[in-house]
Amino acid sequence: MTFKIGLIGCGGMGMRHIFGHIELRKHFNDIELAAVCDVHKNVAEKAVDIINENGLKPPDIYTDYMELINSRHLDGIAIVTSTPMHHKIAIASMELGLHVITEKPMGLTMKACRLMEESAKRTNRILAVAENYRRDPINRLSKALLDSGVMGDPYFALDIHASSSRKAVMHSTVWRAKKQQAGGIVLDAGVHNSDMLLYLMGPAESVYAETSVFEPNRKLMPMVNVAPNLAEMYKHRNEPGFKTGDEVLQDAIDTGFALIKFKSGAIGQLVITDTSHGHSLGIETITGSEGTLFRTQSRSGKPAKIVFMDGKEVIGEELLKLVPSFELDDLTTTLWNGRRRIGQYDMGFHDTDSRILAYEYMDWVRAVEKSEAPEVGVLEGKNALGLAYSIVESGLSQKKVKVRDVISGEINGYQKDIDISEEI
Ligand SMILES: NC(=O)c1ccc[n+]([C@@H]2O[C@H](COP(=O)([O-])OP(=O)(O)OC[C@H]3O[C@@H](n4cnc5c(N)ncnc54)[C@H](O)[C@@H]3O)[C@@H](O)[C@H]2O)c1
Repeated sequence: MTFKIGLIGCGGMGMRHIFGHIELRKHFNDIELAAVCDVHKNVAEKAVDIINENGLKPPDIYTDYMELINSRHLDGIAIVTSTPMHHKIAIASMELGLHVITEKPMGLTMKACRLMEESAKRTNRILAVAENYRRDPINRLSKALLDSGVMGDPYFALDIHASSSRKAVMHSTVWRAKKQQAGGIVLDAGVHNSDMLLYLMGPAESVYAETSVFEPNRKLMPMVNVAPNLAEMYKHRNEPGFKTGDEVLQDAIDTGFALIKFKSGAIGQLVITDTSHGHSLGIETITGSEGTLFRTQSRSGKPAKIVFMDGKEVIGEELLKLVPSFELDDLTTTLWNGRRRIGQYDMGFHDTDSRILAYEYMDWVRAVEKSEAPEVGVLEGKNALGLAYSIVESGLSQKKVKVRDVISGEINGYQKDIDISEEI
């Protein structure tokens, strides 16, 4: 049986999903992208052009997502709209019997996520979250190294992402500047960092954070100046009401400095900002009782490294010797040219990105077929966003917060205005 998917939201990330489907079809023919939808018809048409150029069957085009999910010829929906629509489309789709994969963050707020969870349970549908970083083979190796105990007991993780947007709007997308739309780098990108920390370090107990909007006055700049490696994917999208060079008022948090306590007793420091002008810094390390693991930038293919207490360095493919039984799963192996054990790889960002997206789709569809949880489902989606929102909530309340209280909604100072205005 062919699993037919409707993709809603054909902007920058939507275009990356299209390439994920193109990659998927090279290996599997039981999944079909049968329909695409965007409120802007020209944006959806561009996605279809790319599909045609790559020889895949052209999907139907919709501009109204309710029409698409009511079309009755689909098995699942992929949500790649801006974040405020995730819960609305997910719930409407599941209630009509469709399975759902949504882009990260799982929902606009924790309340939105809880409603999505309830709907998935009530309708017995599989809800997956398209969280990509952990699927990188080098991150799989990092996890295997930590789990094997070669690092000893984990003490602390440093996750420092200080970059400069040069006062531009993130990804040249106005919604990312707005609090009401879950914009701002701490939530929008921080949910990836959160997921990776939880994946590697285990569940988080509490967070204390300081946050700020250092730069409310931003400019809409061309994507090629803002994120050159993604510019090709974003060039077809529309930004109604704005043109290049326009001022944009940002009220979404642009800076978070957080201390995280993990349930294991380990500590994490997560720093994330796009206001670090003149000094970009990226540190992703995990230190244990035997040494430090230097993680690598997700999707770069660059090798990870361990430096042990005695100064001995083990890097890339050599790390595989420390975990002799480590093997990648069948799906990753298929997508990474048959390689079962990978210590580093040499592939452009676009090719890596498409493979990871193909993985996400396949993981979701196989979960549907087997009626089991996908790798990143409701629990993982809620936990990652819960940790990112814990930073924002702690920064606002100036108190240490329990992550579980943010996930349950007991603490929601930052989110309650969003819930009210979006009628969540
Ligand atoms: N996993 C990742 O690495 C990653 C990277 C970028 C974006 N994302 C996520 O993907 C989502 C989209 O981000 P983006 O950068 O592509 O934004 P974008 O603004 O470029 O694209 C969103 C598209 O959704 C369309 N849209 C909005 N509301 C709609 C509706 N009601 N019906 C149909 N179409 C609608 C818009 O017209 C737009 O074309 C966000 O949730 C974002 O967090 C994930």
